[in-house]
Amino acid sequence: CGIVGYVGGQSALDVVVAGLKRLEYRGYDSAGVAVLADGGLAAAKKAGKLVNLEKELVGRPLPAGATGIGHTRWATHGGPTDTNAHPHLDNAGRVAVVHNGIIENFAELRAELAERGHELVSETDTEVVAHLLAESFSSCGDLAESMRLVCRRLDGAFTLVAVHADEPDVVVGARRNSPLVVGLGEGEAFLASDVAAFIAYTRSAIELGQDQVVELRRDAEGGGAAGVSVAVTDFHGAPGEARSYHIDWDSSAAEKGGYDYFMLKEIAEQPKAVADTLLGRIDPAGSLTLDEVRIPDSVLREIDKIVVIACGTAFHAGMIAKLAIEHWTRIPCETELASEFRYRDPILDARTLVIAISQSGETMDTLMALRHAREQGAKVLAVCNTNGSTIPRESDAVLYTHAGPEVAVASTKAFLTQLIACYLVALYLAQVRGSKWGDEVRDVVRELSAVADRVERVLETMEPVRELARSLADKNTVLFLGRHVGYPVALEGALKLKELAYMHAEGFAAGELKHGPIALIEKDLPVVVVVPSPRGRSVLHDKIVSNIQEIRARGARTIVIAEEGDEAVVPYADHLIRIPATPTLLQPLVSTVPLQVFACELATARGNEVDQPRNLAKSVTVE
Ligand code: G6P
Repeated sequence: CGIVGYVGGQSALDVVVAGLKRLEYRGYDSAGVAVLADGGLAAAKKAGKLVNLEKELVGRPLPAGATGIGHTRWATHGGPTDTNAHPHLDNAGRVAVVHNGIIENFAELRAELAERGHELVSETDTEVVAHLLAESFSSCGDLAESMRLVCRRLDGAFTLVAVHADEPDVVVGARRNSPLVVGLGEGEAFLASDVAAFIAYTRSAIELGQDQVVELRRDAEGGGAAGVSVAVTDFHGAPGEARSYHIDWDSSAAEKGGYDYFMLKEIAEQPKAVADTLLGRIDPAGSLTLDEVRIPDSVLREIDKIVVIACGTAFHAGMIAKLAIEHWTRIPCETELASEFRYRDPILDARTLVIAISQSGETMDTLMALRHAREQGAKVLAVCNTNGSTIPRESDAVLYTHAGPEVAVASTKAFLTQLIACYLVALYLAQVRGSKWGDEVRDVVRELSAVADRVERVLETMEPVRELARSLADKNTVLFLGRHVGYPVALEGALKLKELAYMHAEGFAAGELKHGPIALIEKDLPVVVVVPSPRGRSVLHDKIVSNIQEIRARGARTIVIAEEGDEAVVPYADHLIRIPATPTLLQPLVSTVPLQVFACELATARGNEVDQPRNLAKSVTVE
């Protein structure tokens, strides 16, 4: 969910709604706002996307006030209705609270409140917090103190932001596990689940730590320019430390910049994202410097097992990482879905390196998995795109990807940069351990520097892919096949199509076809095949050419992604998509791009919302 809080000299409602627009990618089932004005509290909330709320506010304007909060929701407890939308209020309508996360003991708290005569109207876990805050406030008269008292009673993960009509110049926030950052402006301050919400107003931010409460208080006394004080404590009132930092994202990076959708812009930004992620990390002699990896080389030399954990698209990057790591370093490596890893009692020790890949750095499944790994003594290296987010903060080391903000829910440029980061980690390990640091690895380092241009070339030749996608808009199923690194690419192609086009799409390892999936092949079924390079591992190439023949013989319509100059596929390809020749392990950097374009265009042709697919959210901060 997306959360915004504001106190300052501007209209709180305008600032909050503008912030919610920037955060809508975090959830868009419903939205709501509350402002403090004229000694009271006024709220509005609406099911559906933010525009519904905006319409409501035109028809029923809220009074102008300088303090406010807002929320855009990805439903967990209770469906996306007006009543379940946030903010939630107490019975007297004096407190309003917005929440991201899950309060696990809410049923117990709810029963307790009901016994004391509170009337709860929604099905959410959040509403209990509004009532508990109101109760505490009536005895202590201080919202920050009330928040501390209430947080001590909550189990689970949460970001909470609240206001009270009796403290019209105060916004209070609290966090446990879920993200919350403070933005500091001139005479104004912001609270948000990520910096995108306030980047248009300030680049100065403070990140809150685990189990902290923050109070933003506007001091309008004395007639001079108003200032805002920021007080951070732990849940027991002891002063807390919080790190200030400067946000180096350009605010235009969080805008569409002439593209119809963020996804199109982000696909187009991939050559730059790739180049930025490589920048300064490979010296002219071809060796690697990864300053941010703060696990000593002596420890890295002792690692005897690597586990990559991630979710969604990042998991597919992890599957490719496994192949590169094992090939270049000879260290056994497995890749696992973070949500599965955590609960199966994995075998880890101090010589295990866990690599946690996450664009947002906030995915709860990945966070929980990395905590579990650290508890077992493993070292954790985060590959992350979001500076200061929770996953890198809780890891032993981090390698940042420099994709810039990714707004579209379906991940594109973050994926390519995750691959780059994983290759860098693998090569770095090979370098420090001296394993296989021979000609092949040296060649790969050189090839990496050429990849951004190759991605650019792929992007320049995408018109036929778009045309093909439009022609398939009425199909129900598309299958994707690949082998070796092409297999995760096939899975990623299928995931993109599910996410965006809401079509049945499945990725298979091409060799597995004959063991079952081939039964699905029927006349005219579109099957996308990712063909490995004919150079190097040519056995694999020849095997997949046979697979193409097998499906074509059964009537499939073959869409073949193959290197320029690969003539062997030509007779069996109903549609041929060319990609530049690239060493096998690096091929996903170019072969994924047509699949992103394909899914985006198909979604558009089917009239779907590209940036905000139904039911999804970009960063899922619940388990
Ligand atoms: C969500 C998004 C996916 C993303 C996954 C992991 O499910 O919808 O697009 O791949 O989370 O996100 P992360 O931020 O951890 O990379």
